[in-house]
Amino acid sequence: MKISACIFDLDGVVVDTAKYHYLAWKRLAAEHGFDFTEHDNERLKGVSRMASLEILLEIGQKSASPQEKELMAARKNAWYVEYIEKMDSSEILPGAKEFIENLRASEVKVALGSASKNARLILNRIGLVNHFDSIVDGTRVVNAKPDPEVFLIAATDLGIRPSECVVFEDAEAGVEAAINGGMRCVGVGSPAILYRANLVIDGFKNLSPSDVFARLSKQL
Ligand code: BG6
Ligand code: MG
Repeated sequence: MKISACIFDLDGVVVDTAKYHYLAWKRLAAEHGFDFTEHDNERLKGVSRMASLEILLEIGQKSASPQEKELMAARKNAWYVEYIEKMDSSEILPGAKEFIENLRASEVKVALGSASKNARLILNRIGLVNHFDSIVDGTRVVNAKPDPEVFLIAATDLGIRPSECVVFEDAEAGVEAAINGGMRCVGVGSPAILYRANLVIDGFKNLSPSDVFARLSKQL
């Protein structure tokens, strides 16, 4: 089994920004007179900004015109950006930076594959923008996960075949996207949710790329 590249989702894999998305969506919901719970927030992981808004409106049983939706999404994003502008490297999830650096030292290519249009801002804030050979974010992608587009663009950028790429994902839709793109996938989080991944880890702390690759090859 040859592994030439690793592609990382951002939110939930490298940083925990779900809490900031949650606070911003909750504020929007409150403005429109309904509550939005942490449990509801699970449904938004890996989902694009506009698709997240549709889910929020469904939860609140609200309707809105396309123009109103644009304004709502912009308001939510302005609040979200206020949070992420305060981020720094202390918010990198434990072991993630070291894991990426180990990959680069062993000449495995590293890419980012995220639905977020704020991905570059976050990478700048946490000091990892130069750690990736390719950055594919929500500004470069038309089709949201589970469509494999985001990961296939990354593989093309890197010049690596999908079969030699491993994707790291915390969202079910992201795992599907990797599978749909013909890539192997390591789920980061709960095996109950990410059961379609080839392997599930609970994080990168004290984990080396060679451990992960050895465990992956045993699964196949
Ligand atoms: C994904 C997050 O990475 O990016 C989603 O998991 C989010 O929760 C999506 O909605 C889009 O992010 P942004 O920053 O473009 O609103
Ligand atoms: Mg994610």
